Amino acid sequence: MVIQTKSASETIRIGESMGSRLLPGDVVALVGELGAGKTQFIKGLAAGVGIGNPTYISSPSFTLINEYPGRVPFYHIDLFRLEREKEAQELGLEDYFQGEGIAAIEWADKIPSLLPKEMLLIHIAYTGKNTRSLEIIGKGNRFLKIVGELEGSRIQGVK
Ligand SMILES: Nc1ncnc2c1ncn2[C@@H]1O[C@H](COP(=O)(O)OP(=O)(O)OP(=O)(O)O)[C@@H](O)[C@H]1O
Ligand SMILES: [Mg+2]
Repeated sequence: MVIQTKSASETIRIGESMGSRLLPGDVVALVGELGAGKTQFIKGLAAGVGIGNPTYISSPSFTLINEYPGRVPFYHIDLFRLEREKEAQELGLEDYFQGEGIAAIEWADKIPSLLPKEMLLIHIAYTGKNTRSLEIIGKGNRFLKIVGELEGSRIQGVK
């Protein structure tokens, strides 16, 4: 599924719609250049997961992981500063990919072999000052179904 958005708030709304469909243990992997809109999308995800005030969500700067309490715990992971995949393994990052929380990962392409087989993968690309192209890929049956629902709700113009 590919969506073109015309504003940050539109990107956030798509994230929110996805977030409301997620369950504990789900992983959303985001890939895209600096300023593509990964953090904006994650703000929406957090809102959909039920995090109280997602406007304060910002990229973790010194830690790789920010944890937010909500309907289920929400882990915002930003691997921008990660140099080697092995470091992530040493940090026990995989522990966040299963169990009680939902994980959203910026720069997920830095840890190709640690990502779960079943997840949502989002490629965000800059296409203009206020426009972005979002490619959303569901890996595994449950996530394919979520992408189908997002597509359907977008066609009908409802959340
Ligand atoms: N359609 C759009 N979707 C998302 N963001 C947009 C859009 N149009 C403009 N923007 C702006 O682009 C910027 C995206 O920043 P954001 O921090 O989300 O990027 P990022 O991919 O997380 O970057 P980084 O790799 O530095 O963490 C924001 O300032 C946002 O307002
Ligand atoms: Mg970011």
